[in-house]
Amino acid sequence: MCGIVGYVGPKDCSEVLVSALRKLEYRGYDSAGIAVFEDGNIRIAKEKGRLDDLVAKMQTEGTPKGHIGVGHTRWATHGVPSAKNSHPHAGGEKVTLVHNGIIENYKELKEQLEAQGRSFVSETDTEVVAQLLDSNYEGDPIEAIAKTLSQVEGSFALGILFADREGELYAVRRESPLIVGVGEDETFIASDVPAIIKYTSQYYLLEHDEVAVLSENGVKFCTLEGEKIEKELKVADWDQEAAEKGGYEHYMLKEIHEQPTAVKTTITPRISNGLPNLEECSITPEKLSEIKQIYVVACGTAMHAGMVGKYVIEKLARVPVHVDIASEFRYREPLINKDDLVIIISQSGETADSLAAMRLAKQMGANTLAIVNAKGSSIAREADMLIYTHAGPEIAVASTKAYMVQISVMYLLGFELAHAKGRIDDETCRRLTSVLSGVPAVIEETIERVDAQCNEGANKLLEAESLLYIGRGLDYALSMEGSLKLKEISYIHSESYAAGELKHGTISLITDGMPVIAVATQNALYDKTVSNIKEVKARGAMVILVCDDDAQVGEDVADFVIRVPRIEEILMPMVAAVPLQLLAYYTSVHRGNDVDKPRNLAKSVTVE
Ligand code: M6R
Repeated sequence: MCGIVGYVGPKDCSEVLVSALRKLEYRGYDSAGIAVFEDGNIRIAKEKGRLDDLVAKMQTEGTPKGHIGVGHTRWATHGVPSAKNSHPHAGGEKVTLVHNGIIENYKELKEQLEAQGRSFVSETDTEVVAQLLDSNYEGDPIEAIAKTLSQVEGSFALGILFADREGELYAVRRESPLIVGVGEDETFIASDVPAIIKYTSQYYLLEHDEVAVLSENGVKFCTLEGEKIEKELKVADWDQEAAEKGGYEHYMLKEIHEQPTAVKTTITPRISNGLPNLEECSITPEKLSEIKQIYVVACGTAMHAGMVGKYVIEKLARVPVHVDIASEFRYREPLINKDDLVIIISQSGETADSLAAMRLAKQMGANTLAIVNAKGSSIAREADMLIYTHAGPEIAVASTKAYMVQISVMYLLGFELAHAKGRIDDETCRRLTSVLSGVPAVIEETIERVDAQCNEGANKLLEAESLLYIGRGLDYALSMEGSLKLKEISYIHSESYAAGELKHGTISLITDGMPVIAVATQNALYDKTVSNIKEVKARGAMVILVCDDDAQVGEDVADFVIRVPRIEEILMPMVAAVPLQLLAYYTSVHRGNDVDKPRNLAKSVTVE
């Protein structure tokens, strides 16, 4: 939610800020702005809409010229998207800042500031911090920041310019992420690594309540009390190419094509002698054998990866798995025991609800295991055990490769757990692991095979107002993700339903021509799903069936059949996910939507 950047160095600051913000637009894109020291004054340029709208505005009205500045791309929380609500916000004469996060007590603070005679130009919580900081500033930036932070509640990362400190840029954070990049003769702040990777791969992770002071002499860190802090310099293993589109029309399509490599890079180091080995992540067979119950807690796509994990783990290891939406889990007083394992799945590692849920689980004494893609993120740092997925940067808001690697880890975990508990023997575990190792090649083959067909199939969905995804068992778990993918980027209403549940109410929605996408890859359930398909077809549905090469599909079953290669049944979601992703992708493309930046959404949801 919102991306912030900052630059201190010899280059044209506006150019650097805009280029860095381009890599953060996935975090929000309803307005953008920059503030740059120009000839001793802070000059602000901001505009409603995409970054390109800001660039266009600066082309006509002039671009701030200078070498120190901050920038912001917004996902509105307080106040509609508009130029006046966009960042940077000036707090008065002395302070200008950008903010990512939410100030929870902004109303009380605003009232106090208004009582002191201050008036506000925007509806944002950010302007409240800016004005508060401005009123607290008496010449000592650290003192003013410390005083302000003692008054604000919530989550925030701030990039601050003090009008009388032309050579300096200040940054501080609580909860919301912030890194400090270090290049040759230049320094940066950013919400995420891809923003600065074009300039440097070296960065520091700013911790809660630490202040960074960037100047032409480099960067210094201190506590809110002004005590110096030494920090460890990190090196990002994501290169620039990984953060670019690389010839694909959209990041989403590129990321779908990156899935084979992402899965391979994620699972290969966790397999030794043909068996899963998660010891490097502090997960030993002894620990696994003691687990009585598992909770998987996550949001959106990551939660759907947990649903696949539930079916796999319960089937193979016979350990009960509860899958929870993090925003529900954290407030419903869950019944967790000390020997339960709570798995948090998150691509960004910063999702506010998932982080809060993990903290709650820890407080209740459970063991927490995080499955996270973003290195050094809050969830990764706070979990008891950690498995990094190696998908590389996922830029498209619609998650694809992150989902694929998340489920690949759930499989590894399921296999090892089942093995540790003596539920599957060595031979079975080796066989399953070997099939999993072969999945990247099958995903590649599937993409090639179904791409054109999904493009064609998408044309059948364009006019729909609403549609259903149906499946049973693992196919149902996968349908949930297929449905989310479609709705978030095509804006067509869609629901996923357990196929057998349709006739308990939902079938009344079926009208002539309504699309139903059925997934049927599980042998034991195939005939039952086909019966459900026939029921919807008899009521006029237009059925697209996703099944495997071995399925016997009668002529009257589906209007459009997409076949994928057959592998070991339990692993079929990793193959069948591909046509669901591509159907969603092409539907969005054909409807003329912004595939990578769908409306109202942001990639990293760092607010509740
Ligand atoms: O970063 P996270 O994995 O924690 O994000 C969770 C969800 O916001 C995310 O999976 C979302 O549902 C996807 N963008 C949907 O494609």
